[in-house]
Amino acid sequence: MVDRKQEPILRVENLTKVFSSGVFFRQFTEAVREVSFEMYPGTIMSLIGESGSGKTTIGRMVLKLLRPTAGKIYFQEQDIATLRGKAELREYYRRVQGVFQDPFSSFNPLFRVDRVFDMVYDVFLPDVKDREERTREVLRKVNLNPERVLHQFPHQLSGGQLQRLLIARALLLDVKVLIADELISMLDASTRMGILNLLADICQSTGMSVLFITHDLALGYYISDYTMIMHRGRLVEQGATAEVYHNPIHPYTRMLFRSVPDIGHRWDPKEKFVPEQVSREIAEFYASNSGRGFAQVSSSHKVLMSLD
Ligand SMILES: Nc1ncnc2c1ncn2[C@@H]1O[C@H](COP(=O)(O)OP(=O)(O)OP(=O)(O)O)[C@@H](O)[C@H]1O
Ligand SMILES: [Mg+2]
Repeated sequence: MVDRKQEPILRVENLTKVFSSGVFFRQFTEAVREVSFEMYPGTIMSLIGESGSGKTTIGRMVLKLLRPTAGKIYFQEQDIATLRGKAELREYYRRVQGVFQDPFSSFNPLFRVDRVFDMVYDVFLPDVKDREERTREVLRKVNLNPERVLHQFPHQLSGGQLQRLLIARALLLDVKVLIADELISMLDASTRMGILNLLADICQSTGMSVLFITHDLALGYYISDYTMIMHRGRLVEQGATAEVYHNPIHPYTRMLFRSVPDIGHRWDPKEKFVPEQVSREIAEFYASNSGRGFAQVSSSHKVLMSLD
């Protein structure tokens, strides 16, 4: 559960990202609009929303792969925009890492697994003496057999094994915040559950926090302590998972739950627009709550009631 007595490990404040494209006719996309949230140690937070709602863009800003247009991200109370120089950035990436949908893209196809780990030591942990023993230990923790994977090339391993390797790397580095973007969506159901349970165990035992980006409401419910719902760049509802799922207030969240016919259903990520009726419902909801902005439903449940 979210332990509010602890200090947040990551704090995002009014984060906004506007993309501009086109040379002669500039077009602007407001991918993320004034998003604020806090992550606490040892918790899993789901970020859920339709395709194009801005989830990956948030993850990329936290990983410093994109620069925010406005707003701030604090890691352990330090504004990450103020990190300077190789040493500070290295320390940041030691503590904040991403795991993505396609694990193949995270590995150099020419390097065997042992070489990948060697590079992790060279860059982040140069003083470690018992490298091999440590590597074997973290591999065993993620249920991989060191003998079987250490001398393999990435293409010789399955998607599930590669994701376990990425989690092993996070363990080795003692990562504090893991951005897991559609982490398990390419895996089959049983492999998925194995990875989810592994993540949950690691969070409990090490205090690592996970930002779990997904389309899948059932998975979000299964794994997360805290849930955030995104709609067109805005965080429209956030709170303790049980509260958001059992007492959804925002019309978009309510529509999401209505549209899930049964547990385990996946949305079609290609479906870009919610039906017009929902857009109308949302507009009416904002109009009828004019002036309220964010409302606190309970100490751990917040809803966007109006845009003014
Ligand atoms: N580099 C970019 N340049 C211009 N527009 C971008 C760029 N990256 C993302 N966008 C736009 O920003 C919006 C949010 O994209 P984002 O990838 O964050 O969505 P998402 O919620 O992760 O979607 P999905 O569930 O499909 O992964 C989209 O409209 C997208 O087209
Ligand atoms: Mg995405």
